[in-house]
Amino acid sequence: MPFLAPSILSADLVRLVEQIEIVEKNGADLIHVDVMDGHFVPNMTFGPAIVEALKKISKLPIDVHLMVSNPMQFVEWFAASGANYLTIHQEAYWHLDRAVNRIKALGCKAGISVNPATPVSAIRHLLNDLDLVLVMTVNPGFGGQKFIPYTLEKIRELDELRSRLQANFLIEVDGGIDELTAKSVLEAGADILVAGSAIFEKNSIAEAAHKLKSIILARGKEV
Ligand code: DX5
Ligand code: ZN
Repeated sequence: MPFLAPSILSADLVRLVEQIEIVEKNGADLIHVDVMDGHFVPNMTFGPAIVEALKKISKLPIDVHLMVSNPMQFVEWFAASGANYLTIHQEAYWHLDRAVNRIKALGCKAGISVNPATPVSAIRHLLNDLDLVLVMTVNPGFGGQKFIPYTLEKIRELDELRSRLQANFLIEVDGGIDELTAKSVLEAGADILVAGSAIFEKNSIAEAAHKLKSIILARGKEV
């Protein structure tokens, strides 16, 4: 069954406890944490301390997306802070097998993310070892950007490869997901939909999360 992962990048940090509770009650399955280092992407955000805090206020799995140039410097810290999923970028590290093995050895589910212009073939040989593939549907760095339509083809390609290889990874999509684009990515084969501004920047966070979750539960069909 597909899942909803609200991204706290767009949350109001002053009201984080309350906002997490609202999304939990309205269909969130995971909490997505965007870690940015000001180098791999032109923005800076959270460190392991926020994951530790989230673990105290929520029982949901924490899905950490590392948008950093030197991911292996940080995987231990994030694993120790309680991250359940740990995803690094294909573009950020040469030795991806080493990274995947290390993340799993630390007790986390291992994910690799690909930027919009990175082809699926760049991670083709890793697919049987991955728990998750994160397809960036915008160029990473900021919330509230417009969904890039050509990424749909990559989601379809991954879904086909998954059947062909009898692999078990989840397909996560991140960037520009709203009520409209949610339907397209679900039809293409996505399993986890990250949404930041489409939830936290709406007047009613509860309604926005609930509506997205109902689209997810209907798997892209009209609700
Ligand atoms: C973008 C981040 C996303 C971001 C998505 O670099 O990885 O997780 O929070 O934000 P929206 O849903 O607003 O596009
Ligand atoms: Zn993200």
